[in-house]
Amino acid sequence: MSKASLNVLLVSASLFADKGNSRALATSFLSALEASGQPFQLTHHDLVERDLPHLDGVEMQAWMTPADERSAEQRKLAALSDGFLAELREADLLVVAAPLYNLGLPTQMKAWFDRVLRAGETFRYTEMGPSGLLEGKQALVLAARGGMYAGSELDSQTPHLKSMLGLMGITEQHFIYAEGLNMGDEQKVGALSEARTNIANYVDAL
Ligand SMILES: Cc1cc2nc3c(=O)[nH]c(=O)nc-3n(C[C@H](O)[C@H](O)[C@H](O)COP(=O)(O)O)c2cc1C
Repeated sequence: MSKASLNVLLVSASLFADKGNSRALATSFLSALEASGQPFQLTHHDLVERDLPHLDGVEMQAWMTPADERSAEQRKLAALSDGFLAELREADLLVVAAPLYNLGLPTQMKAWFDRVLRAGETFRYTEMGPSGLLEGKQALVLAARGGMYAGSELDSQTPHLKSMLGLMGITEQHFIYAEGLNMGDEQKVGALSEARTNIANYVDAL
């Protein structure tokens, strides 16, 4: 276990706020990290709580305008994505507490990715295709799902997350699933317990 302070950035987006299963997994992770004695700093955004809006053209145009030419409104708009980018650059570990909604990510979480996946900032286009600009980070995805999808063709969320993280250069990725959470109490209790064991093992290996 490294003793240098770990900078953790947690993004969550459950419609059930702190009662959500993905938030429960994130809480288990933070408790395990605390218990491990690893010093860490945490930045947490609950993207539903802050009602993160969809990215629109006016906001995107603000990023594309050189900083010294931005209007007051553009400066305010650009500050949102620039702030998320600065946090991500500083993070050692990105924790994504990911509910599965309609086979994908919550729309507010997609809106966060839309603001950090910026060409010229977190990746760049080259003759060989896109290349990630973030280095030395890892991501932990804590996925909560009503049904069972991991490892099957129906799991469209995992490849989407892998591609978005990989595009930015975050190639060290760990996925922990709690699945079948809407398939009866026994299944739910077992899945959450297995996920907690996997979280504890992940923290041990940090
Ligand atoms: C709007 C909505 C859509 C959902 N869509 C799916 C789905 O496509 N597949 C699935 O397995 N579970 C689905 N579920 C169940 C969630 O994956 C499950 O409730 C899980 O616990 C979500 O994480 P959370 O509790 O942190 O919000 C859905 C739940 C909601 C509220």
